[in-house]
Amino acid sequence: MTDMAATGGMRRFAGKSVLVTGGGAGIGRAVALEFAKEGASLIVADVDEAAGAECVDMIRQAGAQGAFVRADVASPDDVSALFATIAQSGTPLDIAINNAGIEGHVALVEDQPDANFDRVFAVNVQGTFQCMREEVKLMKPRGSGVIINFASIAAHVGFAGLSVYTASKAAVLAMTKSVALELAQSGVRVASVSPGLVQTAMLERFFAADANAKQQMTASLPLGRPCDAHEIARGVLFLASDDASLVLGQTLNLDGGWAYVKS
Ligand code: NAI
Repeated sequence: MTDMAATGGMRRFAGKSVLVTGGGAGIGRAVALEFAKEGASLIVADVDEAAGAECVDMIRQAGAQGAFVRADVASPDDVSALFATIAQSGTPLDIAINNAGIEGHVALVEDQPDANFDRVFAVNVQGTFQCMREEVKLMKPRGSGVIINFASIAAHVGFAGLSVYTASKAAVLAMTKSVALELAQSGVRVASVSPGLVQTAMLERFFAADANAKQQMTASLPLGRPCDAHEIARGVLFLASDDASLVLGQTLNLDGGWAYVKS
């Protein structure tokens, strides 16, 4: 199947500039590649330089433009440098996907170290907030743009062992709603996605501690399988497209119905 066939021949994002944080691997990489297939130019920001470089190679192989910027979204200096690079490039930023996130330490609440709370909130909450703030500064004066933040089904339901992560993702849901309302008449649309279980390195790390957990959790999924990162990416592209013009502040559950089993 050719790339054009894979996207049904759609090139909805031709000429658009798209930033994907945490775009080097996992869901972020799939998002970057799906945008590339539909004609976008990509800026891949990631803390992992090797993964970022590999992703940019794949973007170019798909016939699109890609650039890598090393950035830890939890570092205010890195975030400032990332957006200074984008501003100085002279190419307006059309779409920003704040995907970078970590699951942190999986442990019962009484075994959660302070450092885990600080790091998970620094990456998932502060990192998303700081990137969103810079994206708004670039987009609002132009009167156009789309910002999509990565929450999780974990923000909607309870998850034993993931109290810190679930709290961080609930914060992402909440700030997405508030910022979306601030920008409702500005031409900049803000929304979030809530993936279910997605087959990535993050999921493998989560299951690494307990071999039975993977089998049990997979059996509980309505689809009988985890989501594929490219399925999440296709949902993200819908949300970034003009077809989703009324989706503002909301989260799009991309979970194969799992939230209804969990809740
Ligand atoms: P992953 O761990 O497989 O990949 C994450 C990517 O982000 C890596 O390239 C990593 O280097 C980069 N990254 C990590 N911390 C960073 C930082 N501080 N600054 C910049 N880049 C950083 O994770 P996955 O599964 O692709 O997750 C992506 C997003 O989706 C995360 O926000 C995650 O919480 C969310 N999510 C994932 C689910 C899953 O089942 N895999 C389910 C629901 C949400």
